[in-house]
Amino acid sequence: MKKSIRIIAAALIAVLMTACLTACGKKTEGTIKFGTNAEFPPFEFVAANGVIGEFDGIDIAIAKQIGEDINMEAKIENMEFDSLLVALQNKQIDAVIAGMTVTEERAESVDFSTPYYSATQVIITKEGSGIKSAADLADKFTSVVQGYTGETCIVDLGYRYESFKKGTECVMELVNGKCDAVVIDSATASKYVADNKGLVIVEDPAVFGNEEYAIAVAKGNKELLDKINASIEKMLANGTIATLGDKYCSAE
Ligand code: ARG
Repeated sequence: MKKSIRIIAAALIAVLMTACLTACGKKTEGTIKFGTNAEFPPFEFVAANGVIGEFDGIDIAIAKQIGEDINMEAKIENMEFDSLLVALQNKQIDAVIAGMTVTEERAESVDFSTPYYSATQVIITKEGSGIKSAADLADKFTSVVQGYTGETCIVDLGYRYESFKKGTECVMELVNGKCDAVVIDSATASKYVADNKGLVIVEDPAVFGNEEYAIAVAKGNKELLDKINASIEKMLANGTIATLGDKYCSAE
C-alpha cells in the first residue's frame, strides 16, 4: 500500500514537473510597452482587476495577446491621448493601442498596423432634443474630446463646439445642459448612453464615415510592425477580436 502511494506520488510529481517545464519554461524576451489613454471604454479603462494591472478593455486584452504571441511581456503606459504619438516618436513606448483611428495626417508621423476594428462617429444628445442628423448641429453647441477624430469632424463641419480632455467631461456637459450634443466614437457612445439616463444616440453615416482602429508603431519599425500584424491577423481570423468585442460591448 505504502509503496503504491509512493509510486503514485512519484508519477504525479513527474507529471507536474513536465507541465511546469512546458508552461513555466517559456521565458519572455523582454517587454513591449503599449501606450494608451484609458478614458475610452470599452477599449481601455481603469478597473479594479484589469487584464494588465489596473487596465482593462478590448485593446488591453489585444495587447496582452500580442505580448504572448511575440513572446514579450505587455506593459501599459497610460497618458493623454494627445501625447501618444509624440511618446512613440520619442521611444518612450513601443506601440500605441488606443482605439486610434487611422488618418492620413497621423500616418505621416507613424506606421499603422492592419486595422482591427471598424467604427464611426455618432451624436449623443438628450431624448427629445430634436437633433436627428449632423446638419441639426449647425445651430447647436457640441462637445468633443481634444485630439479625437470627433473633434476633426465638427471642425470640418464648421459648427460651434468646445473641446474637453475626456469623454466623460463631454457627457457631463450634456447631462448638465451646457451643450446640446457630443460627437464621439460609436462603441464609447453606447457605453455613456447606457450609464446615463435620458441620453440617446443619433447616427448619420452619410456625414460620419467609416473609421478603422489600428495599432501605431514608430515610423520604419518594420520588425515590430510585422510581428504585431501577424498577431492581429491571427486574432481576426480565429475570432478572438470579435469575441472580445461582444464581451466588452455587452458587459456592464
Ligand atoms: N478613434 C478616435 C481617434 O482616433 C478616438 C480615440 C480615443 N482613444 C482613447 N484611448 N482615448 O481619435
